[in-house]
Amino acid sequence: KNPTSKLRSFCPFTILYFCVLIESSLLQGWVRSVRPQKNNIFLHVNDGSSLQSLQIVADAKLNDPLLTFGSAVEVSGILKKSLHQKQPVELEAEQIRVVGECNPVNFPFKIKERHSLEYIRQLPHLRCRTNAFSSLLRIRSEATAAIHSYFKNNGFVQIHTPIITSNDCEGAGELFQLEPSGPAFVDDDNFFSVPAFLTVSGQLHLEVMSGAFSRVYTFGPTFRAENSQSRRHLAEFFMVEAEISFTESLEDLTKVMEDVFRSATERVLARCAEDVDLFHRHVTPGHRWGCDLMTEHEKYLVKHCGSVPVFVTDYPYDLKPFYARDNQDHPKHTAAAVDLLVPGVGELCGGSLREERLNLLMARLKRVGLEDTYNWYLDLRRFGSVPHGGFGLGFERYLQCVLGVDNIKDVIPFPRFSHSCLL
Ligand code: 4AD
Repeated sequence: KNPTSKLRSFCPFTILYFCVLIESSLLQGWVRSVRPQKNNIFLHVNDGSSLQSLQIVADAKLNDPLLTFGSAVEVSGILKKSLHQKQPVELEAEQIRVVGECNPVNFPFKIKERHSLEYIRQLPHLRCRTNAFSSLLRIRSEATAAIHSYFKNNGFVQIHTPIITSNDCEGAGELFQLEPSGPAFVDDDNFFSVPAFLTVSGQLHLEVMSGAFSRVYTFGPTFRAENSQSRRHLAEFFMVEAEISFTESLEDLTKVMEDVFRSATERVLARCAEDVDLFHRHVTPGHRWGCDLMTEHEKYLVKHCGSVPVFVTDYPYDLKPFYARDNQDHPKHTAAAVDLLVPGVGELCGGSLREERLNLLMARLKRVGLEDTYNWYLDLRRFGSVPHGGFGLGFERYLQCVLGVDNIKDVIPFPRFSHSCLL
């Protein structure tokens, strides 16, 4: 009855919606299926904007042997109402141009075959051509936007923390050190005059900013030289980090962690329903846990609490980095630190109140021999210091949790891990 409203609801092809007003449409995309028949040929073409492909109906004389699964095409024609329930419109082709051919014999993906995530992982330069990985990338993009809007709507200022840094925030020694290369550096390989590393966390830089802003966040790549082949560790991953000033309670932190998680997930489920459904129906292998002892502990806790996200607070003081606040009033020596554990993944967020008391921070840094290195950090406590705290959320682990994906390498466009840096 109202083809325009149907068209509008067919959001992936909004361009076509505008084109239909002038009765001519152009679709550029990749062929997902070809069905030649006696008088007609039917194609499905996908432009990457959604899981849905548009059906093209063409006269058999427009058939071309180069029209194969995976080839890039440009189709012009008239957009029409379709008789099929599932797709409100189809394109009646007037012209079809093969922009880039794709030899089906050599192409590593086969029509109608469902390739495993392990298989497509071996092909990082081509895996975005599969339904599963293109869905993942759309979800990832939507989740990124959702996280930024959460922080924007809640009064946080975004800070671009540096990728190159001279500090080891976590003190775990999992740093990638930078070495200049090339002929210009033969005689001067000490580029920064101090050892410089890829950042393991933007926390300390956010803490600098929390001396002037009450709420700050950053969302960027983070690097850890973990010699681990585990299904939840990468050498390069994205971390969402927030720092909140004028707070003395872990509840203020857990509330923000929970809110970020909720609002991003609600938006992803609302806007990427089809893509998420693809994972839940076809890809989810069932939640499996890793086998290291720590993960087993996390598994036990999450299960014990009814397989829901769980906050674990107040860790033994010595297990946490130098910046964690000493819970002096606790009977056991603990730090005001909190981890969020989620089903299927384990630790998703790590956070703490930061030690704002100069004497205690100084004493701890002295004990670990870092007093001089972190003199600038002590300055933050000397000048207008406030109680504050923050956390980091591993973005890939978040995606693993929401989609039920077993291996972290399947939720990042180009995974980096020990002995692997493809492309
Ligand atoms: O617990 P982490 O090490 O905390 C920090 O780096 C704090 N400085 C953050 C802060 O308070 N601003 O890391 C935070 C989260 C972990 O909970 C985990 O989700 C993720 O980052 N993460 C990793 N994700 C993938 N691969 C790795 N190698 C990861 N290491 C940590």
